[in-house]
Amino acid sequence: MKKPSPLSLVRRAPPRLRKELECVLISRTQIHRRVRELARQIERDFRGRDLVVVSLLNGTVMFLADLIRSLNLPLRLDFMGVSSYGIGTVSRELVFTKELRLEVRDRDVLLVDDILDTGKTLKAVITKLQQLQPRQIRTCVLLNKPARRVERVEADYFGFVIPDLFVVGYGLDYAERYRNLPFVGVLKPEMYQA
Ligand code: PRP
Repeated sequence: MKKPSPLSLVRRAPPRLRKELECVLISRTQIHRRVRELARQIERDFRGRDLVVVSLLNGTVMFLADLIRSLNLPLRLDFMGVSSYGIGTVSRELVFTKELRLEVRDRDVLLVDDILDTGKTLKAVITKLQQLQPRQIRTCVLLNKPARRVERVEADYFGFVIPDLFVVGYGLDYAERYRNLPFVGVLKPEMYQA
């Protein structure tokens, strides 16, 4: 009998998704517990500051909503649109699709993204934000995939370090699908190796 890969020992995907997903990598319960821990850490570090949360569209939708609901701090929220991937896994040129509207000069910025992969996105956004002269920029990502890093950039806060797998769900997409899943799952290679 074929030896099961370690991943098949991880939680199985819900029946309707078993043809597409290898497994559930991070469950909804694990995510919610970790998001609350991150929020407590951020509260300690930003208490008394004039906090502006800058979230990157579109992948942060779930993480951001849960994180800021857990944050017991006054804050203002803005979004930047930035996209590096088309349909597929190959990183393309970075395009800014929405600019920041709030004034961040002398403010404390918490930059939120769903995943830190090659680091190209965070690096470019930090460079752009620095031109607006905030007091400080701290970065917070749900997922950290160090194996793929190309740029020298790290997150100040991260939820989970993950291996080099194609993950979807909880905001993360493949070809704009799967963002609504309440967990982080691993996409089967045959789904993107057409
Ligand atoms: C994804 C993700 C991060 C970025 C990480 O964004 O949301 O912003 O890639 O990759 P990197 O570290 O290699 O730059 P994507 O461009 O797919 O847009 P999306 O958020 O709309 O899915």
